[in-house]
Amino acid sequence: MSGSTLQLSPLDAAGSPVRPRSLICPSILAANFARLGDELSLIEAGGADMVHVDVMDGHFVPNLTIGPPVVRDLRKATRLPLDCHLMVESPDALLKDFADAGADKLSVHAEACRHLHRTVQAIRGLGMKPGVALNPATPLDAVSVILEDLDFVLLMTVNPGFGGQRFIEGVIPKIRSLRALADRRHPSLSIQVDGGITLDNVARVYDAGADWFVAGTAIFGTRDYSATIGQFKRSVGIPEA
Ligand code: DX5
Ligand code: ZN
Repeated sequence: MSGSTLQLSPLDAAGSPVRPRSLICPSILAANFARLGDELSLIEAGGADMVHVDVMDGHFVPNLTIGPPVVRDLRKATRLPLDCHLMVESPDALLKDFADAGADKLSVHAEACRHLHRTVQAIRGLGMKPGVALNPATPLDAVSVILEDLDFVLLMTVNPGFGGQRFIEGVIPKIRSLRALADRRHPSLSIQVDGGITLDNVARVYDAGADWFVAGTAIFGTRDYSATIGQFKRSVGIPEA
């Protein structure tokens, strides 16, 4: 009996590895916080696949946003999965609060975790899907050893902290490298991209190997969220319902 954990990629008709499903994830950081419930209803009706929730502590990043009490209310306001991106200095102390609040997926930054493997196990143990986020300048080595323990890796395509920043082109080869690594070792791993994603660059990011597309300004900055989400879906090969 071999002890190998090698997973063979399922292949499509053309012989290429089958990719995880593409998902459009509006980031509510760019929504109107004075009427969050309405904003959620609009993106849900408009075909969003999950809600991206940016949690910032004023330490890991200079900005300050929301925490578990708001997530608890978001949970009551939508059926979409809640994808919480923790940009905080000490995520371990908050994991249970997010699980109790109803987070479905939870990402922590490798740069903020002293014992990343332990933190990932704790997230899964609390019933959430674990992801690890990497800043643009953090190499993939930071997640390589624990790749099989993750549901997703979030590759930041801006420096975290603010919406509306310009996409960093230099991350594209990193997406390609991670896709190649995942195809060899963990084909069901989803690659999430976050920051500066627009209708102008999303197809290139998809071609490089990304699966989950976070977009704040490019969705909430438009008048018709449903039309914009539809355009995003067409750009990344998602058949519209
Ligand atoms: C940045 C956040 C992003 C942000 C993306 O630190 O992690 O999720 O909301 O916003 P846009 O799409 O406007 O760059
Ligand atoms: Zn984010």
